[in-house]
Amino acid sequence: MRQHRVVLLPGDGIGPEITAVTKRLLEVVAERHDFQLIFDEQDFGGAAIDASGSPLPTSTLEACRHSDAVLLAAIGNPRFDALPRDQRPETGLLGLRAGLKLFANLRPVTILPALINASSLKSEVIEGVDLMVVRELTGGIYFGQPKGRIEADGEERGFNTMTYSTTEIDRIARVAFELAGNRSKKLCSIDKANVLDVSQLWRDRVDAMASSYADVEVSHMYVDNAAMQLVRNPRQFDVLLTGNLFGDILSDEAAMLTGSIGMLPSASLGSEGPGLFEPVHGSAPDIAGQDLANPMAMVLSAAMMLRIGLKETDAATALEQSVDRVLQAGFRTGDLMSEGCERLGCSAMGEQLLQAL
Ligand code: IPM
Ligand code: MG
Repeated sequence: MRQHRVVLLPGDGIGPEITAVTKRLLEVVAERHDFQLIFDEQDFGGAAIDASGSPLPTSTLEACRHSDAVLLAAIGNPRFDALPRDQRPETGLLGLRAGLKLFANLRPVTILPALINASSLKSEVIEGVDLMVVRELTGGIYFGQPKGRIEADGEERGFNTMTYSTTEIDRIARVAFELAGNRSKKLCSIDKANVLDVSQLWRDRVDAMASSYADVEVSHMYVDNAAMQLVRNPRQFDVLLTGNLFGDILSDEAAMLTGSIGMLPSASLGSEGPGLFEPVHGSAPDIAGQDLANPMAMVLSAAMMLRIGLKETDAATALEQSVDRVLQAGFRTGDLMSEGCERLGCSAMGEQLLQAL
């Protein structure tokens, strides 16, 4: 029987609740599709800080390195905001991305017909939206040196460096070109080349690569305009290629086209080794432990894990279909609730997803 080792990182806030639902569904699809998942649950984020003082214990990183795929729920809690940066949950996440060399972050945004009215945008604007944000994840201003806080001229100064090498740009651009080639063959690269040197290099490299992908139509857009176009006419986009910081911001904005960030999965991939699959949303400490969370973004992240990370395509499709069915049947978690639908908590939603499988 096929076996896959999956490290589970429940993390903080609503993380453990949505992990429990997702794990149960994974066990059922695995059995039904004749493979075995060997789960290894590890401390990560705030939970790991509480347990051992570090958001990314060495044992967790090692377990991830030796797995076939890593499935993360969410991390973060305002309780840790005052700690030094190296002891915050977010630093653990950056360490995990860097430690597994996950330079490519894929964030698909599709509008499920059942949720067309959940968006704050008019349905005619978002109908048919199907785009993919390809965000560079291990470089740019998130990791650039020098950075820090210094005393200078009698006051304090904080600084970070936005930097990309040609190698870093080329490898993420290649991912985006390949994806675009398998989708509608349209690639829009987002930068701030009218101001930033790092963006001009980015643009030059994307243009240079375009000649090797003659079937892909390439365009460039400044990030401020892209932010506007995403809400003005999101259907113009298919694959959006962008750096770490711009991708962070634009992927949250793109998420809201769907009405709830609670529906969006993501995959972070390197050129070898396990991928990391996680919902785009955070740990939602305000609703944690109350059985109110929407588990569907994590279920859809598990589907991405099955499809991309473990090549279990049929099982992936089964999970995605269960989400579709439950929504079509009118079941909603609080974040998606609209008139005439039935409101469910996290575990009851899990039950419905199981039945729909
Ligand atoms: C994301 C998050 C992270 C990021 C935070 C939690 C460090 O916002 O995955 O988009 O900025 O990358
Ligand atoms: Mg973000």
